[in-house]
Amino acid sequence: MSTYLVTGAAGFIASKVCEFLLAEDHTVVGVDNLNDYYDVRLKDYRLSRLLGIKDWQPGNDPKVSVYAKAETGSLKLEGSESNSGLRSQASGFTYGTFTFRFLDIENLPALDALFAEFKFDAVFNLAARAGVRYSLVNPHVYMTTNAMGTLNLLECQRKHGVKKHVLASTSSLYAGCPMPFTEDQPVNTPLSPYAASKKSAEVMAYTYHKQFGLDVTVLRYFTVYGPAGRPDMAPFRFVKWIAEGTPLTVYGDGQQTRDFTYVDDIARGTILAGQLRGEKSSEIGDGRSEIGEKSSEMRDSRSEIGENPGRNSSISNPNFKLRTPNSEFRSSGFEIINLGGGNRPITLNAMIALMEEFLGKKAVIDRQPPQAVDMQDTSADLTKARGLMGWRAQVSPDDGFRLIAEWYFANKHWVQLLDI
Ligand SMILES: NC(=O)c1ccc[n+]([C@@H]2O[C@H](COP(=O)([O-])OP(=O)(O)OC[C@H]3O[C@@H](n4cnc5c(N)ncnc54)[C@H](O)[C@@H]3O)[C@@H](O)[C@H]2O)c1
Repeated sequence: MSTYLVTGAAGFIASKVCEFLLAEDHTVVGVDNLNDYYDVRLKDYRLSRLLGIKDWQPGNDPKVSVYAKAETGSLKLEGSESNSGLRSQASGFTYGTFTFRFLDIENLPALDALFAEFKFDAVFNLAARAGVRYSLVNPHVYMTTNAMGTLNLLECQRKHGVKKHVLASTSSLYAGCPMPFTEDQPVNTPLSPYAASKKSAEVMAYTYHKQFGLDVTVLRYFTVYGPAGRPDMAPFRFVKWIAEGTPLTVYGDGQQTRDFTYVDDIARGTILAGQLRGEKSSEIGDGRSEIGEKSSEMRDSRSEIGENPGRNSSISNPNFKLRTPNSEFRSSGFEIINLGGGNRPITLNAMIALMEEFLGKKAVIDRQPPQAVDMQDTSADLTKARGLMGWRAQVSPDDGFRLIAEWYFANKHWVQLLDI
């Protein structure tokens, strides 16, 4: 069993990655700064599931983490308390093999102390400022978290000898490229500060691979959706708004397409990426060692994946089984891999129609002009994900959107309260 650091652990995707890793009996240290870019009650909800809090109730103030005031009885606070309650840096809780720390990846000394405390086998770096539109309003925080925060992690890995880094990146980088998007397309014309900050993180990770021997896998996720998703994204907002009779704002004519990818598939692909190993494995060096020369060859022979005989780990989809590789897959030591739904990308209008069907209610649509930072269409070429990791998405949009609607109905007593 391994020990993993997962950043952004209270987030939509990272909380699912933690859940799946824990279900496989790994030790997971999750960090998050619980910022209030969106209603913190969603982050608390996700965390409460990882911390085994059965009687979780949302707080009244959408800006204050319930975690910050947690009085669960079952959890013992670790670290020091600040005047504002439990939210001093690096305070947190442990439940089973999961440790949560309230920690900002921009805080290098706090990260350094964490790396000294735990011996990590790999880092899954998903913490980020992730909203495309808000990045035009507050670009600085995108660079400080997405680029500098990533640099802090890479530097801690170099210093503490942690070789593997999985970086969450984005299909937004492909703006202007011909579809389907392939990983070798040049992506030098980002439309938003968000995409630019992710590009910065990618190239810095490359430098740490090349100079210091870090084994890096960059994952470009394509529009991720699922239960307890991000409330700044269409799938979450639209389900809530249709169910509650609130008019939906749709930018453009709704004919823009997205390669929607269900969150369980993304989490599974992320964990598989953590098992990719660079071909010429070496110790982390001082920048002079020759490591993992780039090669884009696909190695199908090792891409078989076996069923995990362990427990069924998905909360949102009881039929979902996590599949893990029989052996470690080989990569060049630095790979960029698309993770996309692989279904024919569907239009926003088709997504709304699916939701109407599952919610049993018609949407009221408020059409607004298209936004300059939005891409018209996205579609992933998944040859590399299949070849290197044997990964393909398993959940269809029909199932995925139905699961969101079911989650909404099961949780609507508090989801209705959310500020979105
Ligand atoms: N959801 C998608 O469709 C999508 C698509 C492409 C890429 N991604 C990437 O996947 C990752 C996860 O995205 P998500 O959709 O789960 O978003 P999310 O906002 O739900 O999760 C990100 C988490 O990171 C935390 N965080 C932000 N800044 C931090 C900091 N400085 N220190 C510590 N924690 C911090 C946030 O509090 C949040 O809980 C991000 O890197 C995002 O850019 C997501």
